[in-house]
Amino acid sequence: MKKILVATEKPFSKETTDYILDAAKGLNVEVVLLEKYGSRDELYAALKDVEGLIVRSDKIDQEAIDAAPKLEVIVRGGAGYDNIDCAYAKEKGIVVMNTPGQNANAVAELTFGLLLMMTRKKYSGKQGFEISGKKMGILGYGNIGRRIANYALGFNMEVEACDIFLKPGETGNEKVAYCPTVKDLFANCQVISLNIPATEETKKSIGYDLLMSMPKNAVVINTARKEVIDEEGLAKALSERTDLYYVADIAPANAQELVEEFGDQVFFTAKKLGAQTEEANFNAGRAALNQSAQYLNEKVADYQVNK
Ligand code: 3PG
Repeated sequence: MKKILVATEKPFSKETTDYILDAAKGLNVEVVLLEKYGSRDELYAALKDVEGLIVRSDKIDQEAIDAAPKLEVIVRGGAGYDNIDCAYAKEKGIVVMNTPGQNANAVAELTFGLLLMMTRKKYSGKQGFEISGKKMGILGYGNIGRRIANYALGFNMEVEACDIFLKPGETGNEKVAYCPTVKDLFANCQVISLNIPATEETKKSIGYDLLMSMPKNAVVINTARKEVIDEEGLAKALSERTDLYYVADIAPANAQELVEEFGDQVFFTAKKLGAQTEEANFNAGRAALNQSAQYLNEKVADYQVNK
C-alpha cells in the first residue's frame, strides 16, 4: 500500500484530518500526519519513505524533494503552488497538482470583509464611503475572481475583469465587463481585488503608477500573494494619496511601519487566513487526498500544474 504524508505547518482542521485518515482506508492508501513540525529536518525525515505528499503553504524546495526518493506526487491543498519547486519536481518525474476552487469561496468572502472594513475606516466611527454603484476591478479571473464578481454584483457594484487567459465576451456573465489591460483596470476601477498568482511575470507588477491612476477613494485588496506588490511603490503612493487604501491577507515585510505611518489607509491580517474556514479546509483536504490517491493508484493526474 502506498504512503501519503500530510505535512502541514499550519494544519488542516481536526475534522478534516479525521476524515482524511478514515477515507484513506477506502482508497487503498496509508496516510501519515506531520503537523506543526518544528524543523526542516523533521520534514525531511518524514519524507524518506513516502510516495505521496499533501501540503498547504509548506515550502517544498529541492532539498525537500531530494529527501523523498520514492515520491511520485505532491498535492497542494489549495490554489497557489508557488511554494513548490515545480520544475525540479518535474525533472524528478514527480507530478504536482493543486486543488483549484476548493477554498475559493472562503477567499471571496474574506475579500468583502476586508473591503467593508476599509471603506468604514476600520469601524472607528470616522466617515467612510459606500461600495454600491462603484466599480470593482478583478485582476485574475479564476475560481476566486469569478465568485468575487458575483458577490460584487450583489452589492450593486459594476464589475470589470482582467486576466491574461480571458478573452472578450467570455466573462461568463453579461454584467461582468472584459477589461483588456491591467492599466485600464486600475484607471477604471475604484476598488481592485488582486487574485493573481506570484509568478516571474506578476512579481512586483502592482506599483506606484497603477496605484496613482486609480479613481478617488481607491481600495486595493490583496488576498493573493505579497510578492505581486512593489512595496516601495506602494509606500510612495500611500504617502502621496490620503484617499488610497491597501488591505492584504499577506502582510508585507514592512507592515508594522506602514500601519504606523498610514493608519486607516492600511490593514494586514495577523496571519494569512483566506482559506481558514471549516468548509475550505475540508474541501481542500478531501480533494488533496482523492487526487493523490487517484494518482498513486491509477496514474490519473487531473489538475497537474507542472506538465
Ligand atoms: C491558497 O493558495 O490556496 C491560499 O493562499 C491558502 O493557503 P493556505 O492553505 O496556506 O492557507
